Amino acid sequence: MSVRLTASFIVTTLALVHQGSAYAAPNQEPIQPIQAARVSNPAAVELGKALFFDPRLSKSGFISCNSCHNLSMGGTDNLKTSIGHGWQQGPINAPTVLNSRFNLAQFWDGRAADLKAQAGGPIANPGEMAFSHELAVTTLKSMPGYVGAFRKAYGSDEINTDRITSAIAAFEETLVTPNSRFDQWLKGNKKALTTNELAGYKLFKDSGCVACHNGPAVGGNSYQKMGVVEAYKASSPAEGRVAVTGKDADRFNFKVPTLRNVELTYPYFHDGAANTLPEAVDTMGRVQLGRKFTADENTKIVAFLKTLTGDQPSFKMPILPPSADATPRPQP
Ligand code: HEM
Ligand code: HEM
Repeated sequence: MSVRLTASFIVTTLALVHQGSAYAAPNQEPIQPIQAARVSNPAAVELGKALFFDPRLSKSGFISCNSCHNLSMGGTDNLKTSIGHGWQQGPINAPTVLNSRFNLAQFWDGRAADLKAQAGGPIANPGEMAFSHELAVTTLKSMPGYVGAFRKAYGSDEINTDRITSAIAAFEETLVTPNSRFDQWLKGNKKALTTNELAGYKLFKDSGCVACHNGPAVGGNSYQKMGVVEAYKASSPAEGRVAVTGKDADRFNFKVPTLRNVELTYPYFHDGAANTLPEAVDTMGRVQLGRKFTADENTKIVAFLKTLTGDQPSFKMPILPPSADATPRPQP
């Protein structure tokens, strides 16, 4: 353990203590099992599911939330950076929507306070769905099927941005992935992990990964500098949290991503530069902890990370209401 490593570890640990992280407690695993979602308004969840899959909320009529957060692929697009309206290549990697309810805020820089605030972003983002909220409302109002769904969810026919984003958020709240093999182990099934995977978990704890990746989502609960010990040369122009706070100290601070389902959410980092888990683990060891893992250690940590894949959301594909004569048509 180098002096620099010790210093950086203390700095990050202290930062976490200030943020009230679960990690400080002794005799307690730094990661907790994830709980299945509790649904309070099932009609809003159903509506939000339809909206999540509806490409008519985009200008082209081609892009839905699911285009970039594909629920058949871990809630991501598995692209380095997302492709939006008119084949525009975006500046940043799409994080998974799975377990996003556990994030302290949404987006890599945390600029949206919660899922409802986030859901207003992509529809009107010219580089993503390139629509407008007014057009989204007009589009949905034109379809009797949607009017009925809003009535069922909210008690009246009113369709507005607030109700649209609330419904999408209600659906996203349900996208949790309990029952991973690691959770089974945490809950007492000691046979759920192999010796190799357990050795990986020990390395993950003892090397200091848990200083930043902890809690039920194994991340998502703090902003940390990317490149604590060694500068990280990103291929994205994003500078992280400074965009929100304007503070120089927040430059290159990013929300620590959840490592739940990380086996499915490649490529990794905000710039999508790491294609594989062995590569991401190697980079994390070097730039965050000043530690070069041996091939054997790397293999073990990767084996542990793959035990974080939980039960994926399972539901009937929503069948969307057909467009009416008055529904605005796709535009180039
Ligand atoms: C970020 C949901 C549409 C690409 C996010 C996050 C959520 C989300 C919850 C934050 C996750 C986190 O911070 O951990 C949605 C919903 C959509 C939608 C509900 C539909 C209304 C899209 C589309 C694209 C896209 C169509 C691609 C064209 C991205 C990217 C980010 C992101 C690149 C990261 C942006 C940043 O942090 O600056 N999305 N998304 N999303 N999404 Fe989406
Ligand atoms: C990202 C694993 C240590 C903070 C990641 C990712 C992995 C990972 C796989 C990519 C996730 C994704 O993009 O979806 C590890 C391992 C560690 C470790 C195995 C121990 C060797 C740390 C430490 C910190 C930290 C100690 C805080 C000082 C972050 C941040 C990101 C990240 C901020 C996002 C960086 C970016 O995208 O620019 N980690 N991590 N990690 N981790 Fe770690």
